Amino acid sequence: MLLNTSRTICRLSSGRRFVAQYIPNDFKPPFIPLTSESGFAGAVGNTPLLKLNKLSQETGRNIYAKAEFMNPGGSIKDRAALFIVEDAERKGLIAPGGTIVEGTAGNTGIGLAHIARAKGYKCVIYMPNTQAPSKMDLLRLLGAEVNPVPVVPFTDPMNFNHQAKRHAESLDNAVWTNQFDNLANRQAHIESTGPEIWAQLDGQVDGFTCSTGTGGTFAGVTRYLKDISAGKTQCVLADPPGSVVHSYIQSNGEALDRSGGSFTEGIGQGRITNNLAQDIGLIDYSIKIPDAESIKMVYRLLDEEGLYVGGTGALNVVAAVEVAKNLPEGSNVVTLLADSAHKYAERIFSKKWLIEKGLYEHIPKELQKYAILA
Ligand SMILES: Cc1ncc(COP(=O)(O)O)c(C=O)c1O
Repeated sequence: MLLNTSRTICRLSSGRRFVAQYIPNDFKPPFIPLTSESGFAGAVGNTPLLKLNKLSQETGRNIYAKAEFMNPGGSIKDRAALFIVEDAERKGLIAPGGTIVEGTAGNTGIGLAHIARAKGYKCVIYMPNTQAPSKMDLLRLLGAEVNPVPVVPFTDPMNFNHQAKRHAESLDNAVWTNQFDNLANRQAHIESTGPEIWAQLDGQVDGFTCSTGTGGTFAGVTRYLKDISAGKTQCVLADPPGSVVHSYIQSNGEALDRSGGSFTEGIGQGRITNNLAQDIGLIDYSIKIPDAESIKMVYRLLDEEGLYVGGTGALNVVAAVEVAKNLPEGSNVVTLLADSAHKYAERIFSKKWLIEKGLYEHIPKELQKYAILA
């Protein structure tokens, strides 16, 4: 479209003249994202905060969700991966040409594999051999060595995490990144996610909630928001079925209830990690979100907001609505959309899989049309 222009006469370096026609006098440039001189690393974080309009109208509170699927590796775990690797570099634990080793079945491995390529490290991932082949393929095509190992409990020395640790110890110039207990993970969110949220809402953050895997995101954001708001921001931990964290908080550390299971991937925990332990005393309360609510929200976000998010993002939004209901009208409540639905689509948009898992009936009739996969 030809814009209303000043038709300024300009000169090219060749001396030829041309008439500027495409930039109108009153043109204002759009928001300009940063330029990353450090490539992938510098592009991690600074994600948009999205107001979820339908849910905000429904609740009379403003529900915001941070679009973490817009990180360059596709998930919130790019932040942890970057901070953990740069912390190891600062401590002299790894030097150019070295190897990053981690036990992970998901997004942290993807983040680490990207960062390893971008910074010139090798990346070795240990994961349970029950994981979908597509996850292993993705890591391999990102240049990582993938070692699928039999599933055994954390207490067994052959657990994938312990194998990763031993692998790193057996090499020179190698680091086991240990996402669960390495506090550089939580630090990523104290220094990036938390401050971004606070700045994006001009310091008007009444509530924050999210679920936990390593606990790095929840602990780091909570620590920052509690500090900057002088304790005023309400911080609520959301837990899926099968995770012990909710029961631990409810019982003041007396119980670890492992009952149930969830279709969500990357969250839920069988212990209190070092990352979460740092800030567990700051939690206002915790809530358990049933899978029926989370799957329904996957479909609602798609239908109402055009958002294609994974199960943990949907669970977080259900939790944000619960937190909002306990705050005064007009409050701002923030949560996170950790990743997109791409990696999970074969399941969560498959009618057969949803029926098998007893989830299909929880999707409202008018939204079942999105379950198009066999
Ligand atoms: C999709 C997804 N959501 C949430 C989380 C939880 O984040 P954190 O490990 O910081 O608790 C993860 C962690 O891997 C994840 O992959």
